Amino acid sequence: MSIRIMGTGSALPEKTVSNRDLTMLVDTSDEWIRERTGIAQRHISTGETLVSLTAEACAGALENAGKSAEQVELLLVATCSPERGIPCVACQVQDALGAKNAVAFDLNAACSGFLFALHTAYAYVQAGVCRNALVAGGEVLSKMVDWTDRGTCILFGDGAGAVFVEKSPTGGILGFVQHSDGARGDVLKCDGRALKNPYVNLPMETEFVRMDGREVFSFAVRQVPACIQEVLTKTGVRTEEVDLFVLHQANRRILETIAKRLAVDLERFPMNLDRVGNMSSASIPVLLDELNRAGRLKRGGRIVLAGFGAGLTYGACLLEW
Ligand code: COA
Repeated sequence: MSIRIMGTGSALPEKTVSNRDLTMLVDTSDEWIRERTGIAQRHISTGETLVSLTAEACAGALENAGKSAEQVELLLVATCSPERGIPCVACQVQDALGAKNAVAFDLNAACSGFLFALHTAYAYVQAGVCRNALVAGGEVLSKMVDWTDRGTCILFGDGAGAVFVEKSPTGGILGFVQHSDGARGDVLKCDGRALKNPYVNLPMETEFVRMDGREVFSFAVRQVPACIQEVLTKTGVRTEEVDLFVLHQANRRILETIAKRLAVDLERFPMNLDRVGNMSSASIPVLLDELNRAGRLKRGGRIVLAGFGAGLTYGACLLEW
């Protein structure tokens, strides 16, 4: 028994910000950003909220799957940029959609979040807890980025993506692996709220995203190919039998290095990061939606999904579309 993706959806803020626009804010250039990251523009919220974007992506996934909101049994939202501490984003999205029969909660595994949420939905279905799930990844990272730090503000974008999954006797997720390395959490971090009450008032350490870019780069190019190999070994599938590798869209150079290490042609690594930047947990579902709506995902085709990011967290799954 597995789960199969029956529909996809996505939503991006209306405003696009080009690399050239960023040269007005920090000492950088279009050439530098393109060459080091592959990013040309990103979408930045000027009013859209994480809840509105995620609800729009979820509505798209339901419509694409031909399902109504009332049919959803589990609603998972992966995010590391909620607007509120409580209630969780998933409950607000549930309300916006009218998915009144769903159990809704959030999951935070940063850029691996969508993948970990998908694996959670798989485990829930396997355990007989539910028969379907709406799984979303959404981020409005622009509010957590230091717009004076050229090392980070050039990388990230806002957006949301979602999939509707259903219990399936055949195909769907064939296997997954996931890992966490909390000892290396310092290389990519951002504080929530500092401890402040009548008895103490501690300052925040990092109000905005802080990153050791080189450390993150070397972590990704070492661990991601290894965990893709791990899931392929587990499922007995060879790299040449995989049609597409849909990876977290952090950086073109990271994806090129991963493809090289796996000895896989870069053409089998679809990318949209040039247009949307790194959207953390929204990256994979937004790209999946673009591929799905472009007719590039064929029933029966084999796809590897892989995510990696803050935590550190990383994982991969193999699925039959
Ligand atoms: N524009 C121009 N110059 C910049 C710059 C920018 N936006 N950002 C950094 N620089 C400068 C640095 O100040 C440094 O200058 P110096 O040599 O005079 O000190 C130089 O470029 C090299 O900086 P460095 O940080 O070593 O660059 P890099 O080649 O490692 O590229 C990243 C930086 C962030 C693009 C790269 O490390 C990376 O992609 N890391 C992974 C980040 C990521 O994907 N994070 C999210 C994971 S989910």
